[in-house]
Amino acid sequence: MRTLLLLAALWTAPAMAVDSAAEGKQVFIRVGCYQCHGYAGQGGSAGLKLAPEPLPYDALSTFVRGTTGAMPAYSTTLLPDADLQKIYAYLKSIKKGPSADDIPLLKNLQ
Ligand code: HEC
Repeated sequence: MRTLLLLAALWTAPAMAVDSAAEGKQVFIRVGCYQCHGYAGQGGSAGLKLAPEPLPYDALSTFVRGTTGAMPAYSTTLLPDADLQKIYAYLKSIKKGPSADDIPLLKNLQ
């Protein structure tokens, strides 16, 4: 029985990660993170780069909840922990782009 439960958990885990990343993208857009950090967390003139390779969750959460700088802090009322965790799943799911050396067009410019 225990093995069956473990198998069930292993079977559903990757699908759940994809779901919460997709939901996280929706939350990221709904609560306005994208306005300063870009749709893919790439950063822009108003906000830093958040992905790929986001900060560890605890550091990110501490910052988002408590910052007093240029970024508005998000309370748990505005953005519950469950939603922030989904945002984190989204940021973690963003893949690193290819390096400039791996882009043929850029090589031709050298
Ligand atoms: C009004 C623009 C704005 C919005 C909206 C915004 N941010 Fe930011 N964010 C910033 C700026 C500017 C900084 C850099 C601030 C600083 O260093 O004090 C920052 C920094 C951060 C950092 C720290 C990054 C690092 O490497 O130190 C994290 C994490 C972050 N934002 C996450 C989020 C998330 C998640 C959301 C949505 C829930 C969000 N931000 C919404 C402007 C914004």
